[in-house]
Amino acid sequence: TYIVNDNCIACKYTDCVEVCPVDCFYEGENMLVIHPDECIDCGVCEPECPADAIRPDTEPDMEKWVEFNRKYSEMWPVIITKKDPLPDAEEMDGKPGKIDLFSE
Ligand code: SF4
Ligand code: F3S
Repeated sequence: TYIVNDNCIACKYTDCVEVCPVDCFYEGENMLVIHPDECIDCGVCEPECPADAIRPDTEPDMEKWVEFNRKYSEMWPVIITKKDPLPDAEEMDGKPGKIDLFSE
């Protein structure tokens, strides 16, 4: 599966949702997640994210992100249409410690 990591927080560009063939992105207040059981591992979303927040779970230490993505994808609504990024998206891209800004 692919997952969304903390660099999506406070950016939420949403380019990713337009390309997913199985519509498995879910939207929280300031980030998206991927449902790991619905993702078919096609990989097309990865290069679409301007914040490089989409990663394959084959990278090291991804288990916590898979569980994070699963948890919130079961709580949040699906998103299939791109919308405007959050207002500070450009400035927030790459900022450390973004997990502290996460809002459910
Ligand atoms: Fe959707 Fe493919 Fe990205 Fe999985 S890898 S979230 S199926 S676009
Ligand atoms: Fe987030 Fe990147 Fe999608 S910032 S909303 S994962 S395009």
